[in-house]
Amino acid sequence: MIPLKRRKVSLPVNQQNDTCKFPHVSIFILERKMGASRRAFLTRLGRSKGFLIEEIYSSSITHVVSENNSGDEVQAWLGNQTGQDTSSSVHLLDIRWFTESMDAGQPVIIQDRHILKVKPKPDGDHTAMLLKSYACQRRTPLKHHNSFLTEALEILAQNAEYNDNEGRSVAFRRAASVLKALPRRVRSMEDLRCLPCLGDHSQRVIKEILEDGSSREVESTRQSEQYQAMKALTGIFGVGVRTADRWFREGLRSPDDLIRTGQQLNRAQQAGVQYYDDLQKPVTMAEADVISDIVEKAVHSVLPGAEIQLMGGFRRGKEVGHDVDFLITHPEEGKEEGLMPKITKWLEEQGLLLYQKTTRNSYLEKTDGPARASSNMDRFERCFSIFKLQKPAVSRESNCTVSAEDAGSEASGWRAVRVDLVVSPCSQFAFATLGWTGSKLFERELRRWAGQEKHMSLSSHALYDSTQNLYLRAKTEEEIFSYLGLEFIPPSERNA
Ligand code: CTP
Ligand code: MN
Ligand code: MN
Repeated sequence: MIPLKRRKVSLPVNQQNDTCKFPHVSIFILERKMGASRRAFLTRLGRSKGFLIEEIYSSSITHVVSENNSGDEVQAWLGNQTGQDTSSSVHLLDIRWFTESMDAGQPVIIQDRHILKVKPKPDGDHTAMLLKSYACQRRTPLKHHNSFLTEALEILAQNAEYNDNEGRSVAFRRAASVLKALPRRVRSMEDLRCLPCLGDHSQRVIKEILEDGSSREVESTRQSEQYQAMKALTGIFGVGVRTADRWFREGLRSPDDLIRTGQQLNRAQQAGVQYYDDLQKPVTMAEADVISDIVEKAVHSVLPGAEIQLMGGFRRGKEVGHDVDFLITHPEEGKEEGLMPKITKWLEEQGLLLYQKTTRNSYLEKTDGPARASSNMDRFERCFSIFKLQKPAVSRESNCTVSAEDAGSEASGWRAVRVDLVVSPCSQFAFATLGWTGSKLFERELRRWAGQEKHMSLSSHALYDSTQNLYLRAKTEEEIFSYLGLEFIPPSERNA
């Protein structure tokens, strides 16, 4: 004999549905916000009228009935139960459909007023990706559809940075970055539903731009004396926000003011002021190519077999940049040690350097350890420099009667270009490549993802897994994405 308890459990839950008159309508009543007793009452009522009402949600349910729930709430509840998207397979109905059916003694035809509205599901994988909240989970192309919004948000981000408010600045940058990933132009606030990273402030700004064509806050920031002065002063090579802010409070507004008042400048800042106009001009891809050739020649002259890779914005497909970035390594570990001084010596002998500052490699896995690894400043042997780049012969000939000036200019036969050189040991090359490709926000989000979601610590040197207490070695960027549990995003789609 089957014990009583087991027999009870094995009874069909719909035993009272035996007399059902409408077998093609299988109803599930949601208890959420309704309560167990009302649900039991409605269930009894329905069954007494020959309706098939199930106690437990399953794939055989055709009609889900709920009271005081939105369509999205019901959808979310179902999603939790089934782990899948059920929206197309069941009717999500308001209680009115049920009570009207009770009155009619049969299922009434489903009308618009019965249907719980659910936000349209984004189409396809690409759109699903847009909803992900870390920029390193999304594909962000260089050219996008929402510059009219992102430029405005980035002005506010920049201004927050000038005011030493990093949290606020990052919030605006994240908001802008989400809009960069959208496949089409934002036309109404409706288009922003479901998108992550859009805080109240960003939404207010976007709303105003959509409605009035511009945002008062953005325009007044853009015009403000502080914003303009900080932009001009931090635009000088070697000048950070702190220094610019001090100068601003002393009444200085531009590089000319620094010269006029005889400010104390360090070597980098002197070069920054001297080549200011040239360094303001964007570096073109053609110029980056010429510089690539020069760097290659320099590197191979002092270390044959070394490998050079273009990094930064140009690797991401930008057509212009504020500088040109290079990463250098040698396939044989250790061969790269002390390489930078040799490179700069060669460049200097050729008269190609207007300024350079080399920093020695100070990274040691043993002493730096994972605790420091998340710092965004890496410790590679590096050189921040200003190249003296000869202009192509054509433009030089047209200016041949004008003697070269020492500040570079339209008239001289050369221009100043900022170049960053970094040397990495072969074993860290993949991490260095990932770290120096950018964009800055993409890098920041990668590190945040690693720490917050994976308990790992990512730097341009290494990836440390805190759970397993070990360094994860990688030869390629793909391997690093894979360790991080992220889909690989190619450089051209890291323009977050
Ligand atoms: N970077 C870094 N440490 C620095 C400076 C830069 O790791 N001290 C990294 C940044 O995180 C970025 C890359 O180097 O990923 C390129 O930086 P940068 O040249 O400033 O920006 P780009 O993206 O190349 O933009 P631009 O075209 O304006 O040069
Ligand atoms: Mn760059
Ligand atoms: Mn750079």
